[in-house]
Amino acid sequence: MQLTDRYARRFHYLRLSITESCNFKCNYCLPDGMDCGSRRDELTLPEIERLVYAFALAGTQKVRITGGEPSLRRDLTEIIRICKDTPGIREVAITTNGYRLERDIESWHAAGLDAVNVSVDSLDTGTFQMITGDSRLPSILRGIEKALSLNLPKVKLNAVLLRGYNFGEFDQFLSYVKDHPVALRFIELMQTGDNRKYYQQQHVSGSVIQRRLEQTGWQRIQKSKTAGPAQEYAHPDFAGKLGLIMPYSKDFCADCNRLRVSSRAELFMCLFAAQHQSLRHLLQDDAPDAVIEFLQQTLHNKEAAHHLHEEFTGATRHLAMIGG
Ligand code: GTP
Ligand code: 5AD
Ligand code: SF4
Repeated sequence: MQLTDRYARRFHYLRLSITESCNFKCNYCLPDGMDCGSRRDELTLPEIERLVYAFALAGTQKVRITGGEPSLRRDLTEIIRICKDTPGIREVAITTNGYRLERDIESWHAAGLDAVNVSVDSLDTGTFQMITGDSRLPSILRGIEKALSLNLPKVKLNAVLLRGYNFGEFDQFLSYVKDHPVALRFIELMQTGDNRKYYQQQHVSGSVIQRRLEQTGWQRIQKSKTAGPAQEYAHPDFAGKLGLIMPYSKDFCADCNRLRVSSRAELFMCLFAAQHQSLRHLLQDDAPDAVIEFLQQTLHNKEAAHHLHEEFTGATRHLAMIGG
């Protein structure tokens, strides 16, 4: 079966957050040193197993494990294995700040991990520390090398574009991609409930980078039907690719293919949805049909697009709440 909405969009991709908690304090996510959410009410392993099983029956083929920082959960390897062993799930991915990558990537890979996205907002240890509050960039970069040496099919890097921090670092990012077969994506800063003032000061449009790429021989790669929001570019002289995620661009939501479940078992129809619904009561015993019916009903109300262009009214205080 296949989950679809009123706009004929197909949903075969689940972003599953397993914790709100994070050990970094990226200033765009948690300005003014705010704290991430608590560890209370996190999905248990049996709940995760039932949830992923039901989503897979409903046509989900890919699960991306997110957070907060997912590797703060000690049972992460087990969660990867549960997702990978679910019939119908073809790809298991994770988005991480990378702090456990060097130590754990081998066991995640052995458990069935297919892809990893790592946040690397700067390649300069000092700037990285100013943005994230953390000094472990060298270990994170070694972790990325390790992921590449394991031949993980997909290794992607995320850098949120920030006017006052990394905007002048384009050439350093470029030389990294020259000899690393990764996809490095520049993400436009998104306004959330908590970062309004920061957003006004730091937001840069991705179109500035886009023009630069198009003027320097980078070729736009045709997106596949199941691709995510990034527009990727390739260049014959570079081992890696560059990408742009531009949520403020026209028609960004037209090919939305993903649903989100938070670590508290709440179903979000959109990253910026005004409301969310708890699924927890449906995960207490094996009742996949009830979960599927709930998904179908809720999807009927999914809006055509986010409202990021308007005055911010969503429930999303910061992306760690819901896994980005
Ligand atoms: P894959 O296509 O699976 O690699 O995922 P991705 O690139 O979307 O995943 P990742 O977790 O690395 O997210 C990268 C950035 O894209 C983050 O800032 C996300 O918040 C953002 N993003 C991902 N999906 C959406 C979406 O549906 N809407 C918006 N507005 N942003 C999104
Ligand atoms: N705008 C854009 N990207 C963000 N991320 C977190 N908060 C924001 C925001 N407000 C990114 C992180 C991570 C990904 C999951 O989301 O840097 O790479
Ligand atoms: Fe943590 Fe990610 Fe938020 Fe940074 S963006 S504070 S790594 S949840």
